[in-house]
Amino acid sequence: MISIKNLHKSFGDKQVLRGVNIDVEIGSTHCIIGKSGSGKSVLLKHIVGLLKPDKGEIYVDDKEIESLTYKELFEIRKSMGFVFQGAALFDSYNVYENIIIGLYEHGERDTKVLDETAVKVLSSVGLLPNISERETASFQKEWDILKYKKPSDLSGGMRKRVGVARALVGNPKYIFYDEPTTGLDPVTSEQIDDLVKEIGKSLNVTSIVITHDMFSVFRVADRVSMLHDGIVRFEGDVQGLKDSKDEVVSEFIDRFRLEGEFDS
Ligand SMILES: Nc1ncnc2c1ncn2[C@@H]1O[C@H](COP(=O)(O)OP(=O)(O)O)[C@@H](O)[C@H]1O
Ligand SMILES: [Mg+2]
Repeated sequence: MISIKNLHKSFGDKQVLRGVNIDVEIGSTHCIIGKSGSGKSVLLKHIVGLLKPDKGEIYVDDKEIESLTYKELFEIRKSMGFVFQGAALFDSYNVYENIIIGLYEHGERDTKVLDETAVKVLSSVGLLPNISERETASFQKEWDILKYKKPSDLSGGMRKRVGVARALVGNPKYIFYDEPTTGLDPVTSEQIDDLVKEIGKSLNVTSIVITHDMFSVFRVADRVSMLHDGIVRFEGDVQGLKDSKDEVVSEFIDRFRLEGEFDS
């Protein structure tokens, strides 16, 4: 499990996090919401050890991130997959290269291993037929076509799927999505939400989804934490979020209510 305890972080005299507490249960999809600039990405960077807390601790599987050696941090990062804001693919690389780059950089040169890995993760995100059809001619044909495509040949939704596939390469226990549906149209957003759910279930991954897209939250969240003024202003499930009497919370979700996208 991931535990964030009393996390404080300032930049200069700007206090971004002022005592954040969040527990992410194993197997859950935990959404972190809050308006732009509320510190969601900063929080995520602490979990993966890219930023150091001014005060407070982050525990991943009972290991306190800040106390880890570089090597231990490296080990724990292997259990984590990241889907960055935007698709963050390398434009000059094809799909295959974008998927295997991490493995390649860590010294893997066995083309069979690289191929198998790419095929497996691309099947998991629905860009290739089910892996069980691997030996069929139609599978091979689709693979041969997809492999050499550049990000610019792909739709926004497909690029996002490649981003998710890349995050799955190391068989992560945790996967972190930073604004996975931002910039996508509503239909594609819904497909990506379904993918987030599906990956969580079928691969038994614990997911943290940072978003300000309330439609996504309602579709994917088991648990929601809302950041506001540097603290967790709301923590609960989707129903609790909809029912919240806190003005700050209801104001945040009201525009979605007005659009008639959900009742209650
Ligand atoms: N490395 C940094 N240096 C200075 N300020 C930063 C840094 N990273 C984030 N901030 C500031 O922290 C606040 C929260 O940022 P962020 O976590 O990116 O917000 P969001 O909730 O939109 O993801 C913003 O005001 C941002 O400008
Ligand atoms: Mg952000």
